[in-house]
Amino acid sequence: MRVRDVLRGKIPENLLPLVPSSFDVVGSREAAVAIVELPDELLPYKEAIAEAILQVHKNVKAVYRKLGGRVGEYRVRELELIGGEPITEVVHKEHGYRLKLDVTKVYFSPREATERQRIARQVKPGETVMVMFAGVGPYAIAIAKAQPRVEKVIAIELNPAAYAYMVENVKLNKVEGLVVPVLGDVREKAREWYGSCDRVVMPLPRGAYMFLDEAVRCLKSGGGWIHFYYWDREDDLFAKAFSLVKEAAEKHGFRAELRGARIVSPYSPRTYKVAIDVLLSSP
Ligand SMILES: C[S@@+](CC[C@H](N)C(=O)[O-])C[C@H]1O[C@@H](n2cnc3c(N)ncnc32)[C@H](O)[C@@H]1O
Repeated sequence: MRVRDVLRGKIPENLLPLVPSSFDVVGSREAAVAIVELPDELLPYKEAIAEAILQVHKNVKAVYRKLGGRVGEYRVRELELIGGEPITEVVHKEHGYRLKLDVTKVYFSPREATERQRIARQVKPGETVMVMFAGVGPYAIAIAKAQPRVEKVIAIELNPAAYAYMVENVKLNKVEGLVVPVLGDVREKAREWYGSCDRVVMPLPRGAYMFLDEAVRCLKSGGGWIHFYYWDREDDLFAKAFSLVKEAAEKHGFRAELRGARIVSPYSPRTYKVAIDVLLSSP
């Protein structure tokens, strides 16, 4: 049974098409929270919608409504509980690893699981990888799980709550020897690894470009990979992202080649979150 079917007769017929057909579910088969985006017309029926979600998705214990976009440096968003129990902390399962997190305190998107696998599968044995903007550790842990012969994964995160979950998640997934969680600002912390990384992952579409200099400096003298995230418009999907990385690479004497480019998710009607894989090498 679909959420819309449960709502038939409970909300006006003309509003049924506005009920979201998909929404984020963060958690596991045992316990999860649902996060929905509701247009204003549906707000008088928010409790009925939450009840329908709880009825259809038996593992969902709480339904939250987005109160706006992600804000601030920590990229968290305000949520309103519209049904179920007031739980905010869950253990999310994806691709064989678990991530404990509080949906009100940290950034996390279950929609990016495939993207994390795309990055993790590229990592070769013996590599030193830096994950900037590491959050609760999904990229770092995905890499350590997919490539247990990685030399080390340095994971830098600014939000103390996200960092604390990352430390816990590293233990939960038994990758203590491989992932090195670091609390702090990439601007200050990255320099410790200048010249020592084979790959730098930069999952902060809003602002990663400001840290490209740091990322390039972290690569070994022969070069390496930069996985760069950006928001771009439909008519110019990867061009701006690549030109930003190329400019930073050339400034440090590297040649840049665009080796991969994809849409990660839609951001607004004509804007997408995009990812590019760029190989930097000495000319
Ligand atoms: C878009 S989220 C991505 C989190 C994680 N990589 C994920 O995919 O779930 C960006 C993260 O970068 C962190 N952040 C923002 N500015 C930072 C900085 N200057 N240094 C380190 N972390 C930063 C935020 O706190 C947030 O957790």
